[in-house]
This record gives sequence, C-alpha cells and structure tokens, in this order.
Amino acid sequence: MSSGTWKVAIDGGWQFCLELCAAIGRALGLRNPFLRHKPSNWIQPNATKADIDYQIDYGIRNGELYAYRLKRMGIRPDARIMEIGPGVAFGGMAYLRAAGMSVAVSDRWLAPWSDAYHSRVYAGIADRLEGQPGFDVSPLRRMVAARGYGDDSVRCVFEAAERLADVGLGDFDAIVSNAVLEHVQGLDETLASLFRLTRSGGVGLHQVDFRDHRDFDRPLEHLFLKPEKFAVVNERVHFEYGSRRRQPEYAGAMRHAGFDIESYEIGERAREAYLDQVVTRLGRRRNSTALWSREVLADLGGLFWLRKP
Ligand SMILES: C[S@@+](CC[C@H](N)C(=O)[O-])C[C@H]1O[C@@H](n2cnc3c(N)ncnc32)[C@H](O)[C@@H]1O
Repeated sequence: MSSGTWKVAIDGGWQFCLELCAAIGRALGLRNPFLRHKPSNWIQPNATKADIDYQIDYGIRNGELYAYRLKRMGIRPDARIMEIGPGVAFGGMAYLRAAGMSVAVSDRWLAPWSDAYHSRVYAGIADRLEGQPGFDVSPLRRMVAARGYGDDSVRCVFEAAERLADVGLGDFDAIVSNAVLEHVQGLDETLASLFRLTRSGGVGLHQVDFRDHRDFDRPLEHLFLKPEKFAVVNERVHFEYGSRRRQPEYAGAMRHAGFDIESYEIGERAREAYLDQVVTRLGRRRNSTALWSREVLADLGGLFWLRKP
C-alpha cells in the first residue's frame, strides 16, 4: 500500500472509531464529546482585505449606534459599558473606548487575539477616528502595539453571561448585546446576572434575533420541532441555531428579572406568504406554539431598551 492509501485507511478507521464511540455514547444517553462543533469565535478569522474592511465598517457602525442609543437613554460619555457576546472582533466597544467610555467584553467563547486580523481591524478603526472631535484613539494604538487587549483598552472577561455576576466586576452604567440572548443556554440566569451588574438607573440594550438560524429563508421552522428535539440539535452546535422563544417570552423574562422595558423596536418581519403557510401548518397542530397570534409570529427580532429601576 502507498503511504496515501495508508493515510486514508487510518483516517477512515479513526473516523469509524469516533462514530462507534458516539453511537455507544448515544445509546447510553451520554453526550458525545468527539463530534462537538467548534464555537464560531474560535475559528481563525479570514484576514483578506475585504474581511478586514468589512469588520472595520461593522465595528464603527455598531459603535455609532450604541453611542447614539446610550445618549438617548441619558448615559454619560464617560460611562462604564459592557458588551456580552461581542463576536470575533470587538469593534463596537473599541469605538466607545476611543469616545471616552470605559469598556469591557464578556463571552462564553471569547475570541482570541489574532495578530493578522485584530491588529489590522483596530488599527483601521483608529485610522478612521483619528482627529475626529471627541475621540482619543491612543488606547486602540496601545492595544495594537501590545498585540492584545488590556484593562485600559478593552477589558476581557472569559465567562458565560449566566455566571457573570459571580466574577466581581462591579456595576455598569449599561450592558449591551447584539444577537446574543437567543444563544444563551440559561436566559433567566443571564438576565439575573445582567440585572445584578447594572447600577440602579442603568440601562440594557439588547437586539434579539428570534429566527431559526438553520435557514433564514424559513425562519420559523424550529416551531415545528418538539422543544426537546430542537434543544438536542441546538446543543450540539452550542446553541448557534437560536431559540424557539417569541418576543413576549423575552419581554416576560426581562420583566421577571426586574427590568423595565422602556421600548421595543421590531427589526424584521416574516414575509406574508411564508407567514400564511406557517399559520396554516401550526393551526393543524395542537401544541403551545399554535397559540401565538399572527402578529407575534411575524416578529423575527428586535431591540429591547431596558432600564433598571
Ligand atoms: C451570533 S453571535 C453575535 C456576535 C456579535 N454580537 C455580532 O453581532 O456580530 C453570538 C455571540 O454570543 C456569544 N455567546 C453565546 N452564548 C453565550 C453565553 N452563554 N454567554 C456569553 N456569550 C455567549 C457567542 O460566543 C457569540 O460571540
């Protein structure tokens, strides 16, 4: 046998062993540690010019939106802000840092620094903000020179949102997130953490995406799976498929944690033709999701503006 054939045979054998272990594990009701999907944040990001430019624009746009919304909620320009689940680059928080805020990020799978990628993203954000009134980009320049984050630039907290309150971080003026609350394993625990870490009068801005992330063209298909079944497939991908919860369930959980909802802005609605199909299909079933009104089903995600009384 040639060495290539040996390699195929060994790889095939190894794969067979993994699958056999997985099948035995499943039969015994155990989780399969071998077939677990790698969290997206831990995949080395592409560092082409187009990827970097996209991330610079995305970071600045997020930063501008956060700055505008925080101001609208009466948050001072030197406030303490934390973003949960920032994704692969922390551009929105880098923007707020350059604008004079003190910023932290936390994630269950905090993305590691990649020099080929992050140095160029933050240098690009600094270049774009340099010289603009109200910005000091020196914390971003220091971060790039040090090839990593730091407490004086972007403070990093490697912790799941559910357990954040135990980390001893002190109070924040605002905690924000974008497309995160639909991915946390424990929504009530997460909201309890956020409530405890927000000062009285402080705020929360949370954009939540209610779609089935397996196929954005058919964003309500997860409602046709039994909750337990969706939970099993979702857990295998670290809950990256989103959640079956609808807007009133998020709103209820936020109020239960103690927050006042000052406003909710719907971001995206389902297409009418698809909604017709969904309503008809759900009407034939006798499960709890069939009880949602057409209006609730149409809401595919939006922004919650919260305040801690
Ligand atoms: C869909 S990404 C959104 C990333 C980014 N906010 C954006 O808008 O591009 C979801 C993020 O939530 C994080 N995440 C998922 N579960 C989490 C948890 N329990 N605690 C904290 N972060 C979590 C993921 O690691 C990821 O960074």
